[in-house]
Amino acid sequence: MNILILGSGGREHAFSWKIAQSPLCQQLFIAPGNAGTASIGTNVPLNIIDFEAIADFCLNNQIDLLLPGSEDPLVYGIVDYFKSRSDLQNILIAGPVKEGAQLEGSKDFAKAFMARNDIPTAAYKTFTNESLEAGYAFLETLHPPFVLKADGLAAGKGVVIPETLEEAKKELHAMLADAKFGDASSRVVIEEFLKGIEVSVFVLTDGKDYFLLPEAKDYKRIGEGDTGLNTGGMGAISPVPFVDDSFLKKVEDRIVKPTISGLQKENIDYKGFIFLGLMNVGGDPYVIEYNVRMGDPETEAVLPRVQNDLLDLLQAVCLQQLGTKSISITPQTAATVVLVSGGYPESYEKGKVVSGLEGGKSLVFHAGTKSDGENCLTNGGRVFAVSSLADTLPEALNMSYNKAAEINFEGKYLRRDIGQDLLKISQS
Ligand code: AMP
Ligand code: GLY
Repeated sequence: MNILILGSGGREHAFSWKIAQSPLCQQLFIAPGNAGTASIGTNVPLNIIDFEAIADFCLNNQIDLLLPGSEDPLVYGIVDYFKSRSDLQNILIAGPVKEGAQLEGSKDFAKAFMARNDIPTAAYKTFTNESLEAGYAFLETLHPPFVLKADGLAAGKGVVIPETLEEAKKELHAMLADAKFGDASSRVVIEEFLKGIEVSVFVLTDGKDYFLLPEAKDYKRIGEGDTGLNTGGMGAISPVPFVDDSFLKKVEDRIVKPTISGLQKENIDYKGFIFLGLMNVGGDPYVIEYNVRMGDPETEAVLPRVQNDLLDLLQAVCLQQLGTKSISITPQTAATVVLVSGGYPESYEKGKVVSGLEGGKSLVFHAGTKSDGENCLTNGGRVFAVSSLADTLPEALNMSYNKAAEINFEGKYLRRDIGQDLLKISQS
């Protein structure tokens, strides 16, 4: 099979690494890719939301399977576009239709879907500029902290959690009346604050059957001890010690099964990944968010634990044959540490020469790099995700941190406390 992966981050490098191992994989293309994906497949300079150009490339290169890595093409309807064109019917796409992608593209859609399908989530109400006063009144009925979410895609920045009622009202005004997040905040979901530990669970579904992929915990803040600004993710660990069989059974019974049967009932053709952002509230899982793709850097911790041929699974997803497959996960622990450019997630410089990539047993996934023909150069905020697989969490962390120390570029920054909270849990 010929494959095209859309994206340029660590997630897409991890997908490329895994798919390239499949005996089913003939040619592998990544658009636009990075210096890491270029060492496995062929990078192509395509815009990931230019569906016509993507379709032309697929036809000209006999692509059999298309895998969108990030949410944008899915939310903008790439699957519907491919379904609508008679000349693209033979190309498999591992992703949900536009309406299914609304689970990530609209917080209000996701909350209403959960309410209709009795899926545990924080209580909520949605407001627009016309109902701003009612929004203030709703805030007054809640206890701090307050959770305000821009309805639409806001590059991971659309959730604000003010500590005081006054700040919450100001924030609501900024989002609705001043369009703080543009169109994305023309509607705002206000919800109850859930106290607990977060974990992400990943589901692969063909719309009928599903597998749970390994769960992971990510580290979103830039600073150690979960301080400072939010980032795309500074590290990930899988498995997560508190996620035992009994918790996973609750996730399956209360969340995964009702989600998949809800999608079926609502005639939403959902093939691909469902990323459940969950809060463990005293042993009970609640959905904080749905994403319609894999996480980044979670993918870089999850895929090394999956022993299957991923391409075989993705093909089965697209052909609705997942029921004929089984999944095999190694019990080993994966620890992923992300190296970022100094200044990220605010402004940072690009084009720094990287050294120390070669050698060792860790997997070095490129997240924001490019090649100038001679050197590997930094080309983004998150530059590498270093993953290691070992029998224990301390060993996996040790390996990743050792490799992370060997890689150098001007301004390199990383969090040194990835997984430390989980070490405490597993020791207690
Ligand atoms: P989201 O983009 O929906 O994942 O939200 C970003 C972050 O905000 C989450 O990872 C949580 O840490 C936090 N968050 C979102 N919703 C809630 C909630 N209802 N209660 C507590 N924290 C939340
Ligand atoms: N690491 C969080 C995400 O991919 O959304």
